Amino acid sequence: MAYKKMTAEEAASLIKNDDIISLSGFTATGCPKAVPTALAKKAEEEHAKGNPFKVGMYTGASTGESADGVLSRANAIKFRTPYQSNVDSRAALNNHDMQYFDLHLSELPQYLRYGFLPKPDYAIIEVCDISDDGKAVLTSAVGISPTIANLADKIILELNSYHPKSLVGMHDIYEPADPPYRREIPIYSPSDKIGSPYVQIDPKKIIGIVETHLPNEIKPFTPVDEVTSQIGQNVADFLYKEMKAGRIPSSFLPVQSGVGNVANAVLGAMGLNKEIPAFEIYTEVIQDSVIDLMKQGRVKFASGCSLSLTSPVLEAVYADLDFFKQKFLLRPQEISNNPEIARRLGLISINTALEADIFGNINSSHVLGTKMMNGIGGSGDFCRNAYLSIFTTPSTAKGGKISSIVPMVSHTDHSEHSVKILITEHGVADLRGLSPVQRAETIIENCVDPEYKDILRKYLQLGVKGHTPQNVNAALAFHSTFIKTGDMRNVNWEDYK
Ligand code: COA
Repeated sequence: MAYKKMTAEEAASLIKNDDIISLSGFTATGCPKAVPTALAKKAEEEHAKGNPFKVGMYTGASTGESADGVLSRANAIKFRTPYQSNVDSRAALNNHDMQYFDLHLSELPQYLRYGFLPKPDYAIIEVCDISDDGKAVLTSAVGISPTIANLADKIILELNSYHPKSLVGMHDIYEPADPPYRREIPIYSPSDKIGSPYVQIDPKKIIGIVETHLPNEIKPFTPVDEVTSQIGQNVADFLYKEMKAGRIPSSFLPVQSGVGNVANAVLGAMGLNKEIPAFEIYTEVIQDSVIDLMKQGRVKFASGCSLSLTSPVLEAVYADLDFFKQKFLLRPQEISNNPEIARRLGLISINTALEADIFGNINSSHVLGTKMMNGIGGSGDFCRNAYLSIFTTPSTAKGGKISSIVPMVSHTDHSEHSVKILITEHGVADLRGLSPVQRAETIIENCVDPEYKDILRKYLQLGVKGHTPQNVNAALAFHSTFIKTGDMRNVNWEDYK
């Protein structure tokens, strides 16, 4: 091999305080693990000597325990974008130990190319193969790898033998030109291949190769329960009726499905509903439920940015790679999440809300308006541009003490103008063509937990007259009541009259 082999510790020793690192991967899949772990150890040693040591960090999306986890606990991250979902990283950013800004995921590569953000000093990229002339075959995700491979002057590769070299052909690497030279991205169906099977790296920039054999770090999903399976059923029933009404073609449209437990369960339930024809997926994360559906012939093809599969499921895919290579394509996130393509393909986008309000605004990211959960992720890339934007949420959280549907969201990620359908385990609110008052009545009637229906009806009566009958004194009363008493059901509207 033409490149210098080094240990993770040797690679980490090159990175200095205040450097900016950028990582491959997307969710806890395809990310480097050995070098970030060694870097966290180096940061702890420097801190013990009284020296400052923090780095800026760009990633595709969230990473795993061996990047976000170890580096956050070592207090080694100065700033971080665009998304995270690690418990220690969440604590660090909510304590302001790291500066975090969450960003529409499709935008990060062009943010970097446009110079909106400083360019990374290092790219640390996990690969399953590298040729002497710099053709790098990525592993189970693409993320921002093509862009950071171009921008960073120093590149460290983690050559991870856990992933077979025969993954070549699973990736479709394409970077659009920047304005004013950008042309249309020529994807007209989810399986269209438009790019290269590898990332071309300038071999002179590869300063070292760290050999590893490490699995991804995707956590198991919580099992489907009554609530999530009912939400999935409601989504499927709604889509079937749309198809029967001629508003979705009988050949169906490609589906985008969000991240997390709820999305995994919803897609599983939807796929099982035989009234819906076998469909294609154009999304960012391909989660476990897709694999079963593929085996059953319910999902015909999936284009995504990452195989965010738990290890047993990923290993089953690798054991049957000839079959699955015909079924998947992994793309850079600026292509998997591209607004132009979402609009052109006519995606049915299904994402999860933390909370929604009775007028149709969505909060995907901030618990009680202040504490960051994960980030906006790709939900905005898809929701604003989809053919049909659906948000799902269980109607309550924390055993009913929190209503997921509130008078006014405590943080807005997606506005009433982009959200078309809201679905809980109780039913479906179709918001298309409704005024704010009509939307509120529809959401309360169809989606709200029975214990909160009257409370929200009474809130509407408190509303100041006007197009949107919000009462600014009481709009966040659900949240303040929860903070004071631990239960939103204790809200007393008499206090707000
Ligand atoms: N207020 C406070 N906490 C709430 C809440 C609310 N309104 N709604 C849910 N929660 C809590 C749950 O109780 C749970 O807490 P726990 O971890 O202590 O059990 C936690 O939030 C996660 O809920 P869960 O039901 O397991 O959700 P999930 O795994 O499906 O994730 C999101 C839901 C919204 C956090 C996740 O989908 C997300 O990060 N979305 C934003 C990014 C995105 O949509 N990306 C997809 C684009 S393709």
